[in-house]
This record gives sequence, structure tokens and C-alpha cells, in this order.
Amino acid sequence: MSSRYFPGAGRLHGPEFAADPQAVYAELRSRHGAVAPVEVAPGVGAHLVLDHRAAWEVLTDQGEYWSKDPRPWQEGLPDTPEAQGLVGMIGYRPNALFSDGQTHARFRQAVTDTFRMIQPHKLRGHVTEIADGLIREFAGTGRADLVGQYARPLMARVINRLYGRTDDAGQDLDRILNALTNSVGQDAVTANEEFGRYMSELITAKYAQPGDDLTSWFISHPAQLTTEEVLQHVVLTLGAGCEPSSNLISNTTARMLTDERYYSSLTDGALTTLDALQEVLRNDPSMANYGPYFVLRPVHFHGTWIQPGELVLVSYAAAGSSPVAGAGHQAGERSDGGAHLGFGAGAHRCPAADPALLIALTAIDRLLTLLPGLELAVPFDALTWRPGPFHRALAELPVTFTPVRPDHPGVSPWTSLPKNSRTRSTPPAPTSPGRAPVSVSGDRS
Ligand code: HEM
Repeated sequence: MSSRYFPGAGRLHGPEFAADPQAVYAELRSRHGAVAPVEVAPGVGAHLVLDHRAAWEVLTDQGEYWSKDPRPWQEGLPDTPEAQGLVGMIGYRPNALFSDGQTHARFRQAVTDTFRMIQPHKLRGHVTEIADGLIREFAGTGRADLVGQYARPLMARVINRLYGRTDDAGQDLDRILNALTNSVGQDAVTANEEFGRYMSELITAKYAQPGDDLTSWFISHPAQLTTEEVLQHVVLTLGAGCEPSSNLISNTTARMLTDERYYSSLTDGALTTLDALQEVLRNDPSMANYGPYFVLRPVHFHGTWIQPGELVLVSYAAAGSSPVAGAGHQAGERSDGGAHLGFGAGAHRCPAADPALLIALTAIDRLLTLLPGLELAVPFDALTWRPGPFHRALAELPVTFTPVRPDHPGVSPWTSLPKNSRTRSTPPAPTSPGRAPVSVSGDRS
């Protein structure tokens, strides 16, 4: 489906969309209603589902109208680098995300059972250790980019560990995932190949020597996945895990550092990190529009005819902010009490929502615990977001804090705090040479 079918389609690529996606959703909603024509790459059109109820209908369909199999769409994709670059994200793979019915049920069982094997206290321990290690690397400087130096490497290392690889073996992972998400054309193809190679090394090692890890549990699951299916599901869960989770961590941290209600919770106990996570999952979810669905036959859906082979994207981000009209509701009020779709819904709802939340909660709380006087280094409006039709992802999250010294174990970081330094009215001087650094090894959890 090319964008020539959609004159005046909203652009989901480029810097304008990245800077303020909610403004684009609002504009599309006012012009088109629940389903709007959009362009996801130059020359490639899609239908964007903006409304909560419409999104729910797609996600909870029982296989009557909707499918996750992108192959008919792929066949009609223009042969341009931009269009083919989308295949890295939406191209068919024999995995849970792109299958329906019985095939999906079998794959899905293997994924949910395997993720249930993760013990929360062990996961919290991994995250804490990895988070503290990363914080230690920049704690003495008083400033950091929490995307590049924290959220992204943290997720790569956590998932890498869960899969049973050493931290050293995972050093390339962040770079490869970054390239997969951001590149187009030949670069995207190359990144795809690198990712496949990286993962096949892991599978080979775990078949040879199984361990107490996710990869080995996939291999031994009663669903009897073939080697190819194991590989596909390791690739899926790793790709589906790292990017959205690191974005969830950075989007939520940015919100907490700028929204008075969360910031003051550090001293007043007003709203918690979990509240902030739920709010981001509703209004700024990291899988913003990454809900590719396809119709099985022509469907007239909320005023729009949709044909087989056309790409439909459920916008979790737009659905979360969509108002509900109708009797008994104030403007903007939602009958669902504000429930979010940040983890999707229905048969394909994220099977790792609980561990993902635990990871994000722990990672954010380590930052807030260990870095006194944590502040954004620039105003919220000056933050930059990575362009792309599918995600909501900060390019960087520059912060400042009171420098803490990593080489004095056992000293609480709070001992360096000037009085009231954690209130908005008295932000810390980020690189003040007079402030005594303290240790990040004093574990307060
Ligand atoms: C450890 C981290 C994570 C892992 C391993 C993971 C894994 C997965 C997998 C395997 C699926 C496909 C399930 C299926 O099709 O049956 C999925 C779906 C989904 N995940 Fe996650 N995920 C993680 C974190 C997240 C986070 C942090 C978010 C959002 C902030 C998220 C949002 C979603 C959504 C919206 C879907 C549904 C996609 C659809 O309907 O097409 N996930 N996830």
C-alpha cells in the first residue's frame, strides 16, 4: 500500500512528529476521527487507530477480522530503501508477534511459561547490581546522559544476563539494537544480519551447555520448539524487551524530574514511581504506534474502508490520550477509569509486563536513591526525541546531580546533601567544585 492512496496523510516520520506526537494525534483525530491515514516512511501509507475503543476492538478480536501476519502487506511494499527498511520492524518472522490462532497459542505458551520462571527477587538483584555498576561509572562527574549511559546499556545487560550470557559477551548488544531501531535501507539490513548472528551464537552455546536461564528454558519447553523457533523467540523477546523497556525507564525518569507531583514525592511521599510508570504507559508509552495489524477481508472500520494487505497501526499512545464522548461523561473523561494500553491488550498483550515493570521500577529507584539532587540539565521542552513512526524514545536525557565518589564503600550518598537540596526551589549546583563527593556503594534498598 503506497501513500498515494492517502492524500494529506499525517507524517509519522521526521522531526516534527518526534517533537510533539500528541499534537499530531490530536490534529489527525479532529480531521479523521478514530482511524486516520498516515505515512510511516516516504511513500508508505498506513491506517492509524487513534481511539481507545477502536484500538480495544482490534486488539481483542478473536481472529474474525484481524491478523498479525504481515506477509500480504510485505508483498505490496515499494522497492525503495525507505520502504524495505520497515521490514526490520514489521517483516514476517515465525514468532508469537506475527502469528495467529493455534500457532500463536503454542508460541505464546512457551514465552509466558518461560518468563514466569524468572524469580522477582533474583531479577531485582540483577537490575540493582547492573544499575549500581553503571551509576558508579558516572557518579563522580555530577552529570550524565541517562539514555546512553544508563537506560539502554542497563536493559541490554539485564536481558543479556537473563539469557545466560556474560556481561562481556553483551557489549555489542546496545549498538546493534540501536542500529536496528534507527537505520533505514542497507544499514537496517546490515543491522538485522548482525543481530541474527549475535543471537545464533547464543543459541549454539545453550544447546551445547544448558543453564538456569531463559534461553535454556525455551529449548526445554514442552512446546518442543525447533531450533529455528527457539532462535526466533529469543530474538523476539530480546528485541521486544530492550527498546521499549529502556524507553520506559527514560521517559518516566524525565517525567518524574519535571513534574512537581512526582518530584515532591521523594520527600512528601505524594505519588510513587509506579504512579509515574502508569502515567507514562498511558500518555507516553514507548511502543507508541508499534501495534501492526492487518484485516483478513475488506472491513469498514469506524468510517474507513480497510483492505487486506494494508498496514494498520494501533496507536497505544493516541488511544491512551483519546477522550470519550457520550452521555454521562465530562469532556476528556474516560469510562475505563484511565486504563492504559501501554502493554497492549488481548491475545498479544505483552507477556512480560510484570518483569518489565519490576525492571523499570528498580532501575529508576536506584537512580533516585544513589544520585542526590538529581535534576534535568535542560528544560523538559529542550529534550530531543528520536524520530521514527513506532516508538516514543528520548535521544538523550541529560541530568546533573551532586557528584558522588565511587571509591568509598559504605558511605551513604545522602551524607553529602545540602539541606533541602531535593526540592525544586533549591536545585543543586551540578558541578560545584566545593561539594564533597560521597560513595555510591552505600546501598539503601
Ligand atoms: C522485559 C521486557 C519485555 C519483553 C521480554 C517483552 C516481550 C514481548 C513479546 C514477546 C510480545 C509479543 C507477544 C505476543 O505477540 O503474543 C510483546 C508484546 C507487546 N509488548 Fe512487550 N516486552 C517487554 C517490555 C515491554 C514494555 C516495557 C512495553 C511498553 C512500554 C511493552 C509493550 C508491548 C506491547 C504493546 C505489546 C503488544 C504488541 C501487539 O499487540 O502487537 N513490552 N512483548
